[in-house]
Amino acid sequence: MSNSRFDTEQSELTLALPDAQATYQVGVELGRSLPVGTTLLLYGDLGSGKTTLTQGIGAGLGITDPIVSPTFTLINEYMEGRIPLYHFDLYRLATADATRLAPDLYWEGDEYEPGLVVIEWAERLQHHPAQYLQIKLSIAPTLESRTLHMIGIGGICPPPIPSPSEKLGSTSPESQC
Ligand SMILES: Nc1ncnc2c1ncn2[C@@H]1O[C@H](COP(=O)(O)OP(=O)(O)OP(=O)(O)O)[C@@H](O)[C@H]1O
Ligand SMILES: [Mg+2]
Repeated sequence: MSNSRFDTEQSELTLALPDAQATYQVGVELGRSLPVGTTLLLYGDLGSGKTTLTQGIGAGLGITDPIVSPTFTLINEYMEGRIPLYHFDLYRLATADATRLAPDLYWEGDEYEPGLVVIEWAERLQHHPAQYLQIKLSIAPTLESRTLHMIGIGGICPPPIPSPSEKLGSTSPESQC
């Protein structure tokens, strides 16, 4: 559940992603560094790179199974990496159906082994965890690149990630945490 008391405690990171490999590589960094129990809510238009980012996260966790978007299965669970990865894709769901899927059981960690929870199309969520990383992917007008904007909500910080491009650089998350 969201806790508005914490919503003002934010730290931000913006990265230019010149190509799909850059999106993937940021995912690898996230998969290597994020602590158990982290939830990532992914926002962005069709084709903005959410699955590519998640594939990188899987690689960074040491998962060798192919990560495919769970468009029909809704949730894919990967247990072979450093910590479990729970990958949701809510694209086909209305908000009420997304709520019935009970993603909170995953991010609260009581019912399932705690891991990383990654949710594509988080726009469909009615409830949010108390702490999460909000990641927005935007498609450049030329369609040839993407921008990633990450905010830590509820008092958590985005991990420091080397910018894959010099074009935008990145704001230092430490300075605001
Ligand atoms: N930074 C980038 N620059 C250019 N192309 C990219 C970038 N990142 C990913 N792509 C490409 O964009 C396409 C869509 O990527 P992807 O499937 O990851 O998007 P998505 O947000 O998961 O889409 P959907 O909304 O359908 O779930 C793929 O061809 C991918 O290689
Ligand atoms: Mg996708």
